[in-house]
Amino acid sequence: MSSFQYTKSSKYKDLDTIYEQCSGPGGLELAEFMAKKMGLKPGATLLDVGCNRGIQTCFLAKEFGITAIGLDPWDDRKTGYPMVELLRENAKQWGVENSVLGINLGVPDTHFASGSFDFVYSTTALEMVRMSQGVEGYLSCLKEILRLLKPGGVFGLGEPMHLDVPIPADLLPYVSEDEYPWIECFRSLRETVEQVKDAGFNVLESEYAPDAREWWLSFARHDPFCKEEPGKDPRTLEVDGGRWASFGYIIAVKAGGIG
Ligand SMILES: C[S@@+](CC[C@H](N)C(=O)[O-])C[C@H]1O[C@@H](n2cnc3c(N)ncnc32)[C@H](O)[C@@H]1O
Repeated sequence: MSSFQYTKSSKYKDLDTIYEQCSGPGGLELAEFMAKKMGLKPGATLLDVGCNRGIQTCFLAKEFGITAIGLDPWDDRKTGYPMVELLRENAKQWGVENSVLGINLGVPDTHFASGSFDFVYSTTALEMVRMSQGVEGYLSCLKEILRLLKPGGVFGLGEPMHLDVPIPADLLPYVSEDEYPWIECFRSLRETVEQVKDAGFNVLESEYAPDAREWWLSFARHDPFCKEEPGKDPRTLEVDGGRWASFGYIIAVKAGGIG
């Protein structure tokens, strides 16, 4: 049973739709968890890096009263539309079309002016960049996020991570498959904190999320691709049994006064 109080996300009960409109563990519970850890305030500006179809972006705008820009460079696998078009549709459905904007770009090439945002939020996105572009590519993304924050601005990073243990031998084949093998994407919390610090952030808080396993199991039950292919991620999570795969978060600040 979770010790974290989810209040705003609990009223959205259709988990199949929620997991269809984002991509990764946690859904709206993750967004609420991060928003509270980051201290989101009404009227603030937030950049959602890797917003996908943007349901978390819309939730944050609606429930926390912020103005949000969702950034995503990819097209949707199912529909072929740019993710930000689907964000736009979601924003209309959520009644936040005046406070949510989507931009079809990714970090580090954003072209925003320095110091544009009070908050940057990124979940289950940058570990894929680290896999495809290495630690240097990951650091470039983090440095761009630092540039975009106002002095005193807060970065909330949520990532699939592995526990600081050797990988169980029986799990290895399962996490070595696919386009984005987990073994190549996931790092430990300790390693990720070091990389966030190397990019120039001051880390305020970092931990494995207390509900990491519940978020992963929820993803396995409700994500449309997991439902189509139960032999892939759901099977990996079953074999793992909570021994290695987890989900970590880091709350970090850009040095300087309150922007
Ligand atoms: C797995 S989805 C995560 C979506 C959502 N944040 C969540 O937690 O469910 C990752 C998203 O990151 C996006 N992405 C990939 N490279 C990116 C980059 N360089 N900058 C921003 N987003 C990126 C992809 O297009 C994809 O939609």
